Amino acid sequence: MNKHQVINRPELAEATLNLGGEPLSLAPYATTGLLGLAVGPRGMGKTNAGLLVAEQLSEQGWVSVLIDPESELESLYGDAVKSPADLTKRLRARREKILVVRALDASEFVPYGNAILEVADAMRKPILCVADEGQLFSHPRRRSEGIGEAADIINTICERGRKRALDLFITALRYTGTLHRSIFANKNLTLVGCQEDPTVWASLAPQFRGTQIEFSDLQALAPGEFVMFSRRGVEKVRMPMAAALQPVATKAAPPKRVLPATYSQWARAMGELPLATLERLTDDVVGVLGALSGLTAQQLVAGSSALRDEIEARAR
Ligand SMILES: Nc1ncnc2c1ncn2[C@@H]1O[C@H](COP(=O)(O)OP(=O)(O)OP(=O)(O)O)[C@@H](O)[C@H]1O
Ligand SMILES: [Mg+2]
Repeated sequence: MNKHQVINRPELAEATLNLGGEPLSLAPYATTGLLGLAVGPRGMGKTNAGLLVAEQLSEQGWVSVLIDPESELESLYGDAVKSPADLTKRLRARREKILVVRALDASEFVPYGNAILEVADAMRKPILCVADEGQLFSHPRRRSEGIGEAADIINTICERGRKRALDLFITALRYTGTLHRSIFANKNLTLVGCQEDPTVWASLAPQFRGTQIEFSDLQALAPGEFVMFSRRGVEKVRMPMAAALQPVATKAAPPKRVLPATYSQWARAMGELPLATLERLTDDVVGVLGALSGLTAQQLVAGSSALRDEIEARAR
């Protein structure tokens, strides 16, 4: 085999992902491989994100292996492989583009993980491993019950997958503290879903520094919406549904438009309006609009003072 080809990952140079918004070219990933991470609380669309990536890469030359700890994927993509040896056989044959591995915990995952590494090592043809509920298979410290061995396998994929054409997409409930830090150190496509717990902001803040995105923006994300950090920058995306989920998923309610609550949110919203519009917002008009849209007294106070300041700032 041509060694040059292996290192350059030509399949990545050609591939794109449609995760909502502009299609994302994977060409910038050709030198590193893809290590995707989706974090968010239950029900926010992490599994869908992993399936979407798997479905799309499987159309572009990858074989995707879905590690299924919740027994929710067999009904979508067919029966799980029967054993690690069966996985090896099917990965080598590359006839099926999506394979499901039933692994309820780290110990069950280990022999399958080793099978994936062995095939990748021997064949160096593109494989995507999707590890849903990654915290079951990777932990920052804990090594009991097979989790240390499983985490080592995941780390090997993160650190040495590139040369084996082995890519990874992993999901987790929280940012940091849930997975081995090697994943956070090597990730290069990050999806952050709705966050409700303000205490997580401390660990997220460094990632968001300089992005203009605040905790309140993360709080307002609906299921299927993520802030995406990729090689081209930061953006908010609304993910399509994975093809296999479309017939079965209950459609999430459309995101409700949340009116600004804090002073800084109002200031930002008003910054986009022309001065002539702002000047027409007299106290009476504000009162009527506020009542119609059901603003709380606090929201009204924050909005009114942001309005005054904005008008003054522009007059200067
Ligand atoms: N892109 C999307 N657009 C619309 N609805 C979505 C989208 N993604 C997910 N949903 C809705 O959210 C539900 C949960 O999605 P999913 O199972 O992917 O979430 P999850 O974060 O993996 O949750 P859990 O932690 O419970 O496994 C889906 O059944 C669907 O109704
Ligand atoms: Mg899930």
